[in-house]
Amino acid sequence: HPTLAVSRAALLPPPGGPGDAAGQTLPVESRPFTSYGSALHIALPQAPRAGQLLTLLIDYEAGEGPGVCWLSPEQTAGKQKPYMYTQGQAVLNRSFFPCFDTPSVKFTYSATVKVPEGFTAVMSATSWEKQKDNTFVFKMSQPIPSYLIALVVGDIVSADVGPRSRVWAEPCLIEAAKKEYDGVIEEFLVVGEKLFGPYVWGRYDILFMPPSFPFGGMENPCLTFVTPCLLAGDRSLVDVIIHEISHSWFGNLVTNATWGEFWLNEGFTMYAQRRISTEVYGLPYTCLEAATGRALLRQHMDATGEDHPLNKLRVVIEPGVNPDDTYNETPYEKGYCFVSYLAHLVGNQSKFDAFLQAYVNRFKFQSITADDTLGFFLEYFPELKEKGVDSIPGFEFDRWLNMPGWPPYLPDLSPGQQLMRPAEELAELWAADSLNMEAIEAVDIMGWRTYQLVYFLDQVLQKSPLPEGNVKRLSKMYPKISKAQNAELRLRWCQIVLKNNLEAEYSKVKDFLHSQGKQKYTLPLYRAMWAGSEATRALAMETFSATAPQLHVNVQNYVKKILGLAAAE
Ligand code: BES
Ligand code: ZN
Repeated sequence: HPTLAVSRAALLPPPGGPGDAAGQTLPVESRPFTSYGSALHIALPQAPRAGQLLTLLIDYEAGEGPGVCWLSPEQTAGKQKPYMYTQGQAVLNRSFFPCFDTPSVKFTYSATVKVPEGFTAVMSATSWEKQKDNTFVFKMSQPIPSYLIALVVGDIVSADVGPRSRVWAEPCLIEAAKKEYDGVIEEFLVVGEKLFGPYVWGRYDILFMPPSFPFGGMENPCLTFVTPCLLAGDRSLVDVIIHEISHSWFGNLVTNATWGEFWLNEGFTMYAQRRISTEVYGLPYTCLEAATGRALLRQHMDATGEDHPLNKLRVVIEPGVNPDDTYNETPYEKGYCFVSYLAHLVGNQSKFDAFLQAYVNRFKFQSITADDTLGFFLEYFPELKEKGVDSIPGFEFDRWLNMPGWPPYLPDLSPGQQLMRPAEELAELWAADSLNMEAIEAVDIMGWRTYQLVYFLDQVLQKSPLPEGNVKRLSKMYPKISKAQNAELRLRWCQIVLKNNLEAEYSKVKDFLHSQGKQKYTLPLYRAMWAGSEATRALAMETFSATAPQLHVNVQNYVKKILGLAAAE
């Protein structure tokens, strides 16, 4: 059934010219396109001339669509009032408004949003204004692709956290939100501008979403949407914010022209994120964070097989295939490796930074392909072009783009060794057949940072199942880990619990999945439960039937697939 009901289309007279202001009604027809949307055909009275500007008016109603999420009060943090949000990326906004729903087309927009008393509307817009009658007027004055238009209506309030930044959240979360990011955002923006050029979006605000928001963060311009899981109390998950800020240049300014080249958005953003992180937090910490990213890529490739066609940077997305179904770690972490490789070819960080800035300036407000990127790279560094760096055997640009598999070049993360080594050693101690408690007790993890613990847990997970009884002891010894509130730690702990069949703690998996609905936390846990015992499969079924209504419909469908519940298309 259509999620977008178009009632009328009309051709408006040219501005200032004669003609009926209501426009000339045109025949409209919805034609089958894909399982995730249909094509709107509007018949023009005559064929337009090349370059002719046409103004179409389309009346439509958006209802239950995958892009528009209507939450009941129980699905919010405050549990008092309903909430609605939109999530456009990759191709969901076609159920929010009629559009050319491709990242290759950019446009400005404005919107007038009337909401019930007691609600506030916010959008990804460069300016907004509250008028009388609960009406909000928004304007995005820079051209953006359709997937970056976003709207939230809810019981939300805001608090300033910087000269051009505020946080938005439900009233019950606003204090925690302010505390988490007060005074830290501006530095990321300033460093970003220093590295990549002007921040063109005016404000940078952050909206804390209800717990079921399926992503860690979504880079809606001017207003990043984030999971409330980031409210860790210690700023430890701020890398997500730095990531979304980095999209202000890579993704939102220079945009992938097709979803098959998503790595242009995410790979460059991972690189930019780690550049900013290096400037603010230093190289050791940034390498540690990058190592946890590499571990995710390793897990992904182990699970799919390195040769899987989705493990290419340039993915072939056949007509009818939903780009969201191709989502995985490759564009992020293999993309990061490729950008790092380009930097390695240049051999000088500030020269490469200057290239990135020139790249943004060259392609800002455009949508491009990897050929544009790499062509510009070789043009910018003619001496590299001359040397034929695009065809070094084993490292051909063509191979990077079109061959699946593990990255041929990995950036050196050894500056993180001082943080990684103790975690690796401790994991080794815990994997031993007979535990050397003296050595274990000599390691004090109380002072470790969250990502050090994450790295430690990834190592433990890799070595799991551990010898009988070890995980139980580990749990007792480190309540900081096994009773953690931090979502990244909870995810890893739940994975370890499942891999080691630690039945006594299965309830933690259930509790975690009840508490939030982020896709990257939800899917790995259901996969692990489904791959486990009869007991963990039952746990999966029970948890899913209780939480399904809270999950984003995309996430629901992916879980159904894992559990063999997927309805035929
Ligand atoms: N743009 C993505 C989120 C996204 C990707 C939404 C594809 C829909 C389709 C966002 O920038 C992102 O990558 N978020 C990550 C955070 C991160 C630090 C890698 C996430 O949500 O985990
Ligand atoms: Zn991203």
